[in-house]
Amino acid sequence: MNKKEELEKLRKRMLADSSLPLKKGTTRLVFGVGNPNTKILCVGEGPGYWEDIKGEPFVGNAGKLLDSLLSSIKLSRNEVYITNVVHHRPPQNRDPLPEEIEAYRPYLDKILEIINPKVIVTLGRFSMGKFIPNARITSIHGKPHIVQFNSRKLTVIPMFHPAAALRGNEVMRQIREDFQKLPEILKEAAKPEVSQMELI
Ligand code: URA
Repeated sequence: MNKKEELEKLRKRMLADSSLPLKKGTTRLVFGVGNPNTKILCVGEGPGYWEDIKGEPFVGNAGKLLDSLLSSIKLSRNEVYITNVVHHRPPQNRDPLPEEIEAYRPYLDKILEIINPKVIVTLGRFSMGKFIPNARITSIHGKPHIVQFNSRKLTVIPMFHPAAALRGNEVMRQIREDFQKLPEILKEAAKPEVSQMELI
């Protein structure tokens, strides 16, 4: 099976999983979108209103900003893969609860295993917390971190959530600046051995 087929199989398993805690009351499963053979996996928080309707991550205002950030480094959403820590919309767009994140974790981990990216771009604190626990986004945004994840080394670059950037000019300036670092980080991460010191 190729990666696309593996992801489709996983999506079907998820669709059939009635134990997922946020499923009730939602319109669609929001699994993920993009190129399964990419080196870059972007992980957001959870679907909002438009994502729930369309079944695709980051299609509202935050998504438009994400598209423009990607396009500023000559990438499109079809060249990376985009998913979330939870794949159903939390009621009234509230933050996902720890037990909800935990319930969706095996699926996110499997997506990660299938795609096997070089770089993970975390969008916001919930996905950052998965790879870099107890960190403060204000201190570490835009800085690559080498993390050990399920016996592999990954480069994680924590970014502010695009929705936060839409709420404030300073965060917008920082997220734009942080995205400019991504091509160089990717180049380094794609080398066989990366030294974190070299990257900072
Ligand atoms: N915000 C997210 O974190 N994910 C989405 O898919 C949309 C908005």
